Amino acid sequence: MYSAPASSSSDTAERHLEQRGFTQISTRAVYPARTEFPAGQEFFGASWITCPDRVERAYRSYMTLPLTTDRLVIRDWTADDAEAAYQIYGSSDVTHWLTPAMDRVADEAAMRSVLQAWQEAQPNLIPPRGRWAVELRSDGRVVGGLGIRLLPPYREDLELSWQLRPEEWGHGYATEAARALVEWAFSQDGTDELFAVARPSNSRAIATAERIGMSWVGETTKYYELRLQVYRIRRGDVV
Ligand SMILES: CC(C)(COP(=O)(O)OP(=O)(O)OC[C@H]1O[C@@H](n2cnc3c(N)ncnc32)[C@H](O)[C@@H]1OP(=O)(O)O)[C@@H](O)C(=O)NCCC(=O)NCCS
Repeated sequence: MYSAPASSSSDTAERHLEQRGFTQISTRAVYPARTEFPAGQEFFGASWITCPDRVERAYRSYMTLPLTTDRLVIRDWTADDAEAAYQIYGSSDVTHWLTPAMDRVADEAAMRSVLQAWQEAQPNLIPPRGRWAVELRSDGRVVGGLGIRLLPPYREDLELSWQLRPEEWGHGYATEAARALVEWAFSQDGTDELFAVARPSNSRAIATAERIGMSWVGETTKYYELRLQVYRIRRGDVV
């Protein structure tokens, strides 16, 4: 049985979240406006810190974008991101690996149109589906993108995907961002598992999937008529 912490400050509560393995521990950053809380809910109330199960439930049910990790913010794309996004999706080193195969975005103007289409689609997607930018907290630079979408042809399996600007590979940003997004996705009703697919030679993507805690479930050609390695993480793997 859990015994209540001696201190009853909200900082103590945040430390408990951290100890329980939450990536997104900066509750103030996540919930900047108390008025956004549902009527009658008190996030920093006494029960919040004396019962960790309630903490966890409250935390999960109110977990909302943007997500904040130690080094990153995961947020919606904006039109102002065209230049940074072009450094990602304008690079054939990135698009070469995507599934289905995607031509590199030709120029910044084309990137602006792509971002506009993503922005328009986003409100119509049922969470946890969506596309997000990954921004460095230190200087606000956009270093990558994340997506969750339904895999064709049956549109039953949710795919988590990640892309980083090539200059930003090797710092663990995809792992850190994807872990936070996975936790958020599992806080959404009805989301019990997420998949990632990678070409067999995409060793970086496969290593990231494993770092996130995904397990290999097999090889398939069912999604894009491409031979792909399939990885999966289930709600129980992270909760
Ligand atoms: C897949 C992709 C995002 C992986 O990038 P990445 O930087 O290797 O990913 P990670 O975030 O997992 O970082 C791991 C690397 O950072 C290093 N690292 C440094 N600090 C780290 C930290 N705090 N945590 C984890 N890894 C860290 C690791 O040692 C590892 O380096 P290594 O590969 O040289 O050994 C990138 O290669 C990419 O954008 N590829 C093209 C698109 C793509 O294939 N996407 C997947 C299919 S949609």
